Amino acid sequence: MTTTDHIATKREEAHQDGGASAVAVQDLHKSFGSQIVLNGIGLTVSRGETLAVLGRSGTGKSVLLKLIIGLQKPDSGSVRIHGQDIAGLALDQLGEIRKKMGFLFQQAALYDSLTVEQNVAFPLQHHRKEMSRSERSDRVKELLAEVGMEGNLEKMPSDLSGGMRKRVGLARALALEPDILLLDEPTAGLDPISSAEIDDLILKLQEQYRMASIVVTHDLHSAKTIADRLALLDGGNVVIAGTFEDLQHSDVECVRGFLKDS
Ligand SMILES: Nc1ncnc2c1ncn2[C@@H]1O[C@H](COP(=O)(O)OP(=O)(O)OP(=O)(O)O)[C@@H](O)[C@H]1O
Ligand SMILES: [Mg+2]
Repeated sequence: MTTTDHIATKREEAHQDGGASAVAVQDLHKSFGSQIVLNGIGLTVSRGETLAVLGRSGTGKSVLLKLIIGLQKPDSGSVRIHGQDIAGLALDQLGEIRKKMGFLFQQAALYDSLTVEQNVAFPLQHHRKEMSRSERSDRVKELLAEVGMEGNLEKMPSDLSGGMRKRVGLARALALEPDILLLDEPTAGLDPISSAEIDDLILKLQEQYRMASIVVTHDLHSAKTIADRLALLDGGNVVIAGTFEDLQHSDVECVRGFLKDS
């Protein structure tokens, strides 16, 4: 049996165990001073599944992603990545887990002083030291082609449109072949056509790589297009999690209010 087969078998066993979630968040609490932001959040995402996390501004969506990546620590509750609780992991162990997680921050966080090519090459330079320069260059071209940005290698981030910056951010997030993808507002600030293109790209990538994806958005249309399930945050909790139709049929007042205003 090859190592890959072995891992696949282990995953299958975990699945039969009910432990198939790539990401499992349980009873997560996070406050800043006296401000309670997350007050007992729970959610799970499996391989091949896209969960949209919705909510009004300030409901803690970005904080939730930062807790899942381990950039911030929860006050209580747990974050499990492929069954492993990330609390109390040493930095190098957390680093290993993070390599399998691609993320795109809300501000598309490209390095402004680096070209498109250098931005996408960055994670490879740091985590794929065995790659030769030409292998890395080929991989960067492949990644940029994947997101429809081939031919823009030498451009600086300041020369790109908002949608193009998101694409480059996505290419960089995919560089280490993650099995978990976390996207914070991938369509925010984009016009409807560019948003729809990014949605299509996310769907294509998901089809191709079958990652476990969490996409934070306050764009209901985008969530409906890309996600298998949606979770709405309000008052520090997940007030509803289900399909778009489940949200539409909900009697919960804040769900109805969110849908009406979206
Ligand atoms: N490091 C921090 N220190 C203090 N307060 C913080 C910190 N990070 C987030 N907050 C607060 O937590 C709350 C939730 O912030 P968060 O960025 O998660 O909101 P959000 O749901 O992502 O909003 P948006 O839709 O506008 O991006 C906000 O009131 C914010 O000010
Ligand atoms: Mg946010």
